[in-house]
Amino acid sequence: MKGILIALALALGLTEAQAQAQPNLIPAPAGYSVRPGSISRDKLFGQAEKVSISPKTLIRHLEGRNLADWQLKSAYLLELSKKGAKIVAAHEEGVFNARQTLRMMALVDSSLTCCTILDWPRFRYRGVMLDESRHFQGKAFVMKQLEMMALLKMNRFHFHLVDNPGWRVQIDAYPRLTNLTAWRPQAFFWDWEKNEIGGPFVEEGTPEAYGGYYTKQDIAEILSFADERHIEVIPEIEMPGHNYETRYAFPELACSLPGGGKDPWELCLGKESTFELLEKVLLEVFEMFPSKYIHIGGDEARKNNWRLCPDCQARMKAEGLKSAEELQSYMIRRMERFAHEHGKRIIGWDEILQGGLAPDATVMSWHGIDAGLQAVKQGHDVIFTPTHYFYLDYHQDPAQFRPVGRLVSLEKVYSFEPITEKVSEADAHHVLGVQGNLWTEHIQDAWHAEIMLYPRVFAIAETGWSQAERKDWPDFERRASSLSETAREWGYWVYPMMP
Ligand code: ACM
Ligand code: ZN
Repeated sequence: MKGILIALALALGLTEAQAQAQPNLIPAPAGYSVRPGSISRDKLFGQAEKVSISPKTLIRHLEGRNLADWQLKSAYLLELSKKGAKIVAAHEEGVFNARQTLRMMALVDSSLTCCTILDWPRFRYRGVMLDESRHFQGKAFVMKQLEMMALLKMNRFHFHLVDNPGWRVQIDAYPRLTNLTAWRPQAFFWDWEKNEIGGPFVEEGTPEAYGGYYTKQDIAEILSFADERHIEVIPEIEMPGHNYETRYAFPELACSLPGGGKDPWELCLGKESTFELLEKVLLEVFEMFPSKYIHIGGDEARKNNWRLCPDCQARMKAEGLKSAEELQSYMIRRMERFAHEHGKRIIGWDEILQGGLAPDATVMSWHGIDAGLQAVKQGHDVIFTPTHYFYLDYHQDPAQFRPVGRLVSLEKVYSFEPITEKVSEADAHHVLGVQGNLWTEHIQDAWHAEIMLYPRVFAIAETGWSQAERKDWPDFERRASSLSETAREWGYWVYPMMP
C-alpha cells in the first residue's frame, strides 16, 4: 500500500524524499497527505493564513467520522500549498491547534512540504503536573513550559501548589501560609527534610531564606497566558495528608495528641476548625481559578493519628464511620459537596478510592493503572499518571544527574496505552487522558526540571493526542530527535536521546 502511495505521489511530481516523508510533527496528526511543492518558512509567515470557522465545512471534510463535540472543537483541516496556508475549524481552539501545527513545521524545517492535514485529538485531557512546593520555579518558568505544552497541543496544567515543604499561593484569609510557610532556611529539599520529618520555616524577609509563592496577580497573569493557549490550569490544594506546612502555621489543626501525633503531615479530621480553614482556602482558590476542577490531593495520608485522637474518634462515632479509611472518605465527600455548591468538581489521587469514592470524583491513577480501572468500572472519570510510565522525576538514564526511582526511558513513556482490553468500549469515555508528573524533591534548578520534562513530555503529548494507529516508535524517535534540536535552539534544556 505504501509503495502504491509513493508511486502515486511520484506521478504527481513529488520527489521521492517528499513522497516518503512523514510530517515532522509531534503529536502525529490523524490524517496527512503530501501535495506537490513546498513553501518557505519566510513566505508562509509573511502572509496571514486564510481561516474559516465553519463546523459544517469541517464536518464535510471529516467524511462521516463521528467525532465527539470536544473533539470537533479541537479539530482542524490545514491545507498548505505553495501559495500559503488555509485553515478550516469548528472553533477558535481548532484554529489555534492548526497554527501550532504550522508553527512546529516551520520551527523544525525552513522549507515546508505542501500537504493536507486533517487532525483531531484522541483524549480530552493531555496534561503536565508541576510540583512547586519542594522547589519553587516561579512565573517565568511556568509560562515557558506552557508555551511548549501549547506547541505540543497539550491542554491541562496541573499546578501542585501546596505540600509539606512550602505553601505557594496567596490566601488572604491566612497570610501565615505565605508569610511563614512559603519560606525555609535550606534551599535543597533533602537538606530541609531530614528523616522524613521536615524542618522549620522562617518569616518572609529572613535573610537567605529559600522559597516564594504566587500572588493573586501572578496567578491572574499565568491564567491569562494559559487561556490564550487554550490550556486549562487546575490547582491542587492537598488534604488531608501532605499538610506539614499547614500544621506548622496552625498547630491547633493537628490531632489532640502529644505533639499533634506521631504522623507529622496529617490534619485532624475531628476538628471543625480543619474544615473551616480548608473551605476558606478553597473559596479563594475557586475565585482565582476558573477551571471547573479542583484537585484536592488525598494521597498518602497516614492514618495512625486519627485512630488515636479523641476528636477523630468522636467524629467517627457521630458519623457511624467504621475505619480510618472511612474517616478519610467522609472528608473527601464533604469537600466534594462543598466544591459542588460552588460549581466545581473534584479530582483526587487514587487513594480517594479508600473507604468509598465520592460520588462525582475524578481519579488520578498513579499507583499503576488498577485503581483507575476500578474507578472506571464504578462509572468515574480517570486520568492516567502511572508511576512506571509518567513519573518524570524518575530517571531516564542511570547515568543522569541525581537518578531516582525506576528507569522511565523515553521509549517506556511512549509505550503506555491508556485503553487496554480491561476497559470496555462503553466505559472508554471515562478515560479522560494522560498526564506526566514532575515531582521536584531532587530537582532544584530550572535546567534540571527541563531535562526531566523533555523529551519525555513529547511522548506524553503524542499518547494523549494522536490516534492509536498513528503511533510508531521508530518514527517518533526520529521526530523527537528533530524537535529536541529545535527546542534547544529555542532555549529549552532537553535531555539527550539514547543512541
Ligand atoms: C503521589 O505521587 N504521591 C501522588
Ligand atoms: Zn484528630
